[in-house]
Amino acid sequence: MSKNDNTQNLIDAALAAMPMAYAPYSKFQVGAAILDETGTIHTGVNVENAAYPQGSCAEAGAIAAMVMAGGKTIQAIAVAGRGDLLCTPCGGCRQRIREFAPLDTPILICGEDGLKATFTLDDLLPESFGPDHLTKE
Ligand code: THU
Repeated sequence: MSKNDNTQNLIDAALAAMPMAYAPYSKFQVGAAILDETGTIHTGVNVENAAYPQGSCAEAGAIAAMVMAGGKTIQAIAVAGRGDLLCTPCGGCRQRIREFAPLDTPILICGEDGLKATFTLDDLLPESFGPDHLTKE
């Protein structure tokens, strides 16, 4: 499978996940899809809670699915949400992605009609703190 096919599959996976989100409070459904180093795609959605701070983001769900499946590295991640504005990952999720992704990892921002913008992780989380900071000499 070519890289372009991989990218389109990732976008399609994020869009397919989006309507599965549990977002009764914000009504803002988000889907996320991660391509790992084996070529496997892992998806997640936001899951809100009546105790609002207990809600979780789509990216967090996709990362948990990747870890559970044995994936080690995020090669690309697609995030899909509706509306005119770009559904970019929240600050906390940028840091969550940082744990498993090199700085040049593409973050594909999608709307209902597909890809709207592409950033690298370094674009969205410059001068970041990551696992390398804690590696022993
Ligand atoms: N949300 C995500 O799942 N991912 C993002 O990148 C941005 C925001 C969710 C959290 C909450 O359930 C809803 O969108 C509104 O903030």
